Amino acid sequence: MKKILLGLLICAFSNLAIADDGEGMWLPLLLKSLNEAEMQSMGMKMSAEDIYSVNKGSLKDAIVHFGGFCTSELISDQGLLLTNHHCGYGQIQSHSSVGKNYLKDGFWAQNMAAELPNAGLTATFIVRIEDVTKDVFEGVTQKMTLKERQSTIDKNLAAVEQNVKLESHEDVVIKPFYKGNQYFLFVTTTYRDVRLVGAPPESIGKFGSDTDNWVWPRHTGDFALFRIYAGKDNLPADYSEDNVPYKPKHFLPISVDGVEADDFTLVFGFPGRTNQYLPKVAVAQTVDILNPAKIGIRDKALKIVDAEMRKDEATKIKYASKFARIANYWKKWIGESQGIKTTDGIGRKIKFEKEFTEAIAKNKKTKKAYGNILPEFEKLYKAIEPYAQSRDYYNEVMGRNIELFRTASLMKRLIGQYEQNGEAGYLGFRDRLSNYLKDFYKNYSPKIDQQVCSALLDMYIKNAAIKEATTGIYPTPTIRISYPDFIKSLYTKTAFTTQEGLDKIFQMESEAAVAKIKEDPVYKLYVQINDQYNEHVSKPYNEYKEQIDAVQRNYMKALIEVFPEKRFYPDANSTMRVTYGQVKGYQPRDAVTYTPSTYLSGVMEKYKPGDYEFDVPQKLIELYKAKDYGDYGENGKMPVCFIGSNHTTGGNSGSPAIDAHGNLIGLNFDRVWEGTMSDINYDPSICRNIMVDIRYVLFIVDKFAGAKWIVDEMKLVHPKRK
Ligand code: ARG
Ligand code: GLU
Repeated sequence: MKKILLGLLICAFSNLAIADDGEGMWLPLLLKSLNEAEMQSMGMKMSAEDIYSVNKGSLKDAIVHFGGFCTSELISDQGLLLTNHHCGYGQIQSHSSVGKNYLKDGFWAQNMAAELPNAGLTATFIVRIEDVTKDVFEGVTQKMTLKERQSTIDKNLAAVEQNVKLESHEDVVIKPFYKGNQYFLFVTTTYRDVRLVGAPPESIGKFGSDTDNWVWPRHTGDFALFRIYAGKDNLPADYSEDNVPYKPKHFLPISVDGVEADDFTLVFGFPGRTNQYLPKVAVAQTVDILNPAKIGIRDKALKIVDAEMRKDEATKIKYASKFARIANYWKKWIGESQGIKTTDGIGRKIKFEKEFTEAIAKNKKTKKAYGNILPEFEKLYKAIEPYAQSRDYYNEVMGRNIELFRTASLMKRLIGQYEQNGEAGYLGFRDRLSNYLKDFYKNYSPKIDQQVCSALLDMYIKNAAIKEATTGIYPTPTIRISYPDFIKSLYTKTAFTTQEGLDKIFQMESEAAVAKIKEDPVYKLYVQINDQYNEHVSKPYNEYKEQIDAVQRNYMKALIEVFPEKRFYPDANSTMRVTYGQVKGYQPRDAVTYTPSTYLSGVMEKYKPGDYEFDVPQKLIELYKAKDYGDYGENGKMPVCFIGSNHTTGGNSGSPAIDAHGNLIGLNFDRVWEGTMSDINYDPSICRNIMVDIRYVLFIVDKFAGAKWIVDEMKLVHPKRK
C-alpha cells in the first residue's frame, strides 16, 4: 500500500519542470523522484541513494541536528563534529570566566581528555523517514468540522506512533508537510554527551559581529568543533568519563581543492521555518503592517541598549549576546521587506494567483473545490490583521524586549504550578526558576530595562490596533502626564529587578511566597495586560488562524493538483532537508556586482585595532604578513567565505556545503541581506547563502591555533586534481 501511495506522490510531482535555480528545500527520501536528474544536470556526480539511504551508510548519516536549533556534521571517524561558532556560543560562554575567557581568546583542547562536557547539549541523527499520510488520514472525511478532523488525526497520530518499531535508544516524531496534506515520520537517535573540542576567538568566529551580520562581502570564521561521545556499545549514554568517541556510519571527507563560480553545491541540514505559499494578501500584510511594527519596536529598544553598551565595558559584555539576538531579526526583517519590494514580490504573487485562477477555471470540479480560496484568504487576512498586529506588538513588547515582564510571566507560571500541582509543583518549578534567574541577573541591568520599558509600554498602548487589549492599563487618566513616574515607581517597588529581591520571596513558605508575588505591582500589571491580551487578541486571533490554516491546506492541495508540471517543496519545519545550487555572485544594486569569494586581505581591510567588532588577533596578522597558509591557500591568498544560490534559512546554521562528489567544501552560517525574503519569496537573482570556506577552518585550526592533532583526524581529499 505504501508503495502505491509513494507511486502516486511521485506521479504527482515528477513531471519535472526546472524550478527556479536554487529554490527549494527538499525531503531527502524524495530526491530520487524529484531532484536527482536536475542535480546531476547541474554537475552532481552522486546518486540520490548516496545522499539518503536506509540500507547503507549515506551522507545523511553524517548530518546531525545540533541541540535542536542548529545543524552540524561529522568530519572524522571519531565523532568530530563541525558547527558554527554562533551555534556553540552558549557552551563556549558557559565554560568562560574572567580568568579564562574562551570567547575572547578561543579554546583548543590539547587532546581528547581535555575536551569540555556540556550538560544538556544533544546531537540527533535521523535513522529513517517514512510517509505515513495514509494512516494519519484514516477515517478523515470531507464532511467533518475542523475540530472533528483534528481529533481524528490526533488519534491516528498516537496510533502510528504506538505501532512504529523502535530500538530502545530510538525516538519517533511525526510532522505535517505541505500545509497538513502529508505526514512524515522520523525515527531519530539522540546522543547526550557532546563535548567542546575547539573554538576560535570571537575576533575570528564572530568577526564583524552585528555590523557585518547578514552582509556580503563577509569575513567571519564562524565555526566551532565538538565531539560526540557514546557508550562502549556506540549507543547514546549520559556523560561519563568512560564514554568513547562515537563511531559514525559516515563522515564527510574534506576537499582542499577549493571552489569557483558555478561549482555545484549541496547544503544538507535542518531549516527551521519558511512560508513559501502565502497568498499575496498575507505577504502584503507582512511587508506593510507586521514587519514595520516589529522593526519599529526593536529600533527603539536597540538604540537604548546600544547607547548604554557604548558607555561602559561591563555593560557591553553583559548585553552583547542579548543585543545580537534582538538585532539579528530586526536586521533580517528590514532586508526582507526591502527585498520583496526590489524584486516585486507582490507583483509576482498577483501574477501567480491570476495563473491559479485561470487554471482552476478550466474544469468545473476544480472551480467548485478551489474557487473560494483566494476570496476567503482576502476576507480572513483582512479580519485577522488588527489581531495579528496587536499580537506582534504584545510579543515584542511584553514577551521579549521588556525583560521585567518576562520575569513576571515566569512568576505567573510559578503560581500556576502552585495552583494546579500544589506545594510539590511549586517547589519543583521554583528551583528550576531560581537556577535560571541566577544566570539571568548576571546579565541584567534594571536601569537599562526601565528605559526600554518607558519607551515600549507606551508604544504598545498607543499603537496596538485592538484597543480593548490596552484600555485601563494606566491606573489613572492623568498617567500620561506622569508616565515616567509611573514606570519609575514600578521599577522601585517591584521585587523582580534583583536576585536578592526574589531570593527573599523564594525563601518563604510557598503560600506566603505566592501571596507576596501576587501583591507585587509588576505582577499585577502583567496579569492585567496578559488577561486583556488573551481575551481580546489571542482568542480571536487563534480562531481566525485556524480558519486560515484550513484554507492554506486546501490551497496547497489545489496547487499540487492544478499545476502538475510544477514541483512543490514543503515549507521548512525543522526537519532534514537538502537544498542545492551553485557558487554564485550577484548584483545587489545597479552597477554593483559581488564576486562569490572573500580572502584574508579583506579581513585586514576591515581591521580596526581594539574595536569590539573588527579587531584581529596578532597571530593572524603575522600569518597574513608571512603568507603562511600551509596547504590551505590558493595562489598565495587565503580564502575566507563564499556564497551560493542554495535556499537556506534559520536552523541551517552549521550545515555542511558539499561538493559534487560528497566532500565538505564549506560551512553555512548566514544569508545575504538583500535576499532574506527567501523565507517567503525566493528570487534567484539575489538570494544567496553565506558559507565559511572549509580551507579557512583548516588554516585556523592548524596554523593559527596549532591544533594539528585535530586536522590529522580528518580525511583531506583532492577531487579536482587530475
Ligand atoms: N544572521 C545569522 C543567523 O541567523 C547569524 C546570527 C548570529 N550572529 C550575530 N552577529 N548576531 O541567523
Ligand atoms: N544564521 C542563521 C542560523 O542561525 C542561518 C542564516 C539564515 O537564516 O539563513 O540558522
